[in-house]
Amino acid sequence: MSSNVDVVIVGAGVTGLTAATRLTEAGYDVVVLEARDRIGGRLWTDTVDGVRLELGGQWISPDQSALIETLDELGLQTFSRYREGASVYVGRDGVRRTFDGSAFPVSEYTEAEVDRLTVVLDELAAQMDPLNPWDMPGAAELDRMSFAAWLREQTDDQEARDNIALYIGAAMLTKPAHAFSALSAVLMAASAGSFSHLVDADFILDRRVKGGLQQVPLLRAEKLGSKVITCAPVTAISYDSAGATVRTVSGHEWHAKRVILAVPPTLVSRIAFSPNLPPVQMQARQHQSFGIVIKLHITYPTPFWREAGLSGTAFSPYQVVHEAYDNTNHDDNRGTLVGFVSDENADRLLELTPDERRACVLASLTTYYGEQAREPLAYYESRWMAEEWTAGAYATSFAIGGLTRYGARLREPIGPISFGSSDVAGLGFQHVDGAIRVGRMLADELIAERLGQTTEITTQAPA
Ligand code: FDA
Repeated sequence: MSSNVDVVIVGAGVTGLTAATRLTEAGYDVVVLEARDRIGGRLWTDTVDGVRLELGGQWISPDQSALIETLDELGLQTFSRYREGASVYVGRDGVRRTFDGSAFPVSEYTEAEVDRLTVVLDELAAQMDPLNPWDMPGAAELDRMSFAAWLREQTDDQEARDNIALYIGAAMLTKPAHAFSALSAVLMAASAGSFSHLVDADFILDRRVKGGLQQVPLLRAEKLGSKVITCAPVTAISYDSAGATVRTVSGHEWHAKRVILAVPPTLVSRIAFSPNLPPVQMQARQHQSFGIVIKLHITYPTPFWREAGLSGTAFSPYQVVHEAYDNTNHDDNRGTLVGFVSDENADRLLELTPDERRACVLASLTTYYGEQAREPLAYYESRWMAEEWTAGAYATSFAIGGLTRYGARLREPIGPISFGSSDVAGLGFQHVDGAIRVGRMLADELIAERLGQTTEITTQAPA
């Protein structure tokens, strides 16, 4: 079987569906081919053991204007994360302390060093256009050095280093600070507006969507109707300057003028290209990898921590669960915590049996919230590293040196094929906001080319 369309889009995540919507509105005939049996990629809202959970992405911050515009357009409502009361921090001395406001309870010296480094990172982030991080002054030097080594050069205070590393390493890139460059750290900060934003949980983890963030791709797909095909992994693409033939696992061939590969860079090489992609393109994608994080969902009969005067916000570079928050649904009387185990802690936990893992996680939560945390009603782990069509979380980033050497390559079209996902975004890098921006950009590039159309039903000229 074969069919003709103007544009084949591979991947029904937010990037692919945003591009498909924009191209359809401009009069192009598109098809979206999705490997999974569901829509949304790294967005997945599901009910597990009677609790509605955000298994993938969920939070929205006030600067994410592309996402906020999309939510408004789709008529989706948001609610604020619960944040009344004290937060919990466990220090290098192993002591649990509560605190109000943003300055967490460390020695005066550590606090001053954290504040000083925050200014340094804010200044670096202000010099960077996150869409072209390789162009910032001193980019090559920052990219040759691990973030851990950079932090060692900046301060002799271990606890300050551990906390700054946590905000970008465990909490964002989900890699240890020795595994990514100082330039990648600055990119993470610049893509969120500043490093100060990353440190401020009330900013970066501000709101959630009532009913779940997966509604964004679900509503987009609903509107596109039969143009979105699930259970259709793309296995091969042959191309020349005139167009491409995209083959799915069932053998169906789609002929198109253009292809948008809206998949993480790490999954591009699962597709057989004919001719092969240029060597530098293959190399570029081998230097990028997913981080690893286990997202934990733990539900209790009530949000008991609130009665104890706690907001639910807890963090520590020295705990297996390095950060946790009140994640109670707006329409639920039960209390849900969300916690995260990242990078090397995740490696260690995945070596354990499920029962051992659960015991280890609950012990960490007990340190933060007290003994009641040991007896949840429901416990669930999102394990994206085990998902064939993602294989990690939250997103991909470059190994040391890769950003300046190969970063610009990832958005280069090859013949009729263009590439993109939240992993190559500038603003909103690694986030849903970035996926929307990249989806719009990919569609607008094709529309600007005034791509000739192949099908009879789409005779309307693009805007
Ligand atoms: P995505 O990976 O979603 O989509 C790609 C699609 O392509 C997938 O559906 C995949 O199945 C498909 N595909 C791959 N290969 C294929 C092939 N050969 N053929 C056909 N289809 C193929 N963001 C945020 O803004 N706030 C947050 O709180 C969080 N938190 C968070 C938590 C967790 C646990 C995760 C995993 C992620 C987040 N994120 C997040 C990140 C956010 O979810 C992510 O950046 C975007 O959803 C990515 O959207 P994309 O469309 O770019 O890729």
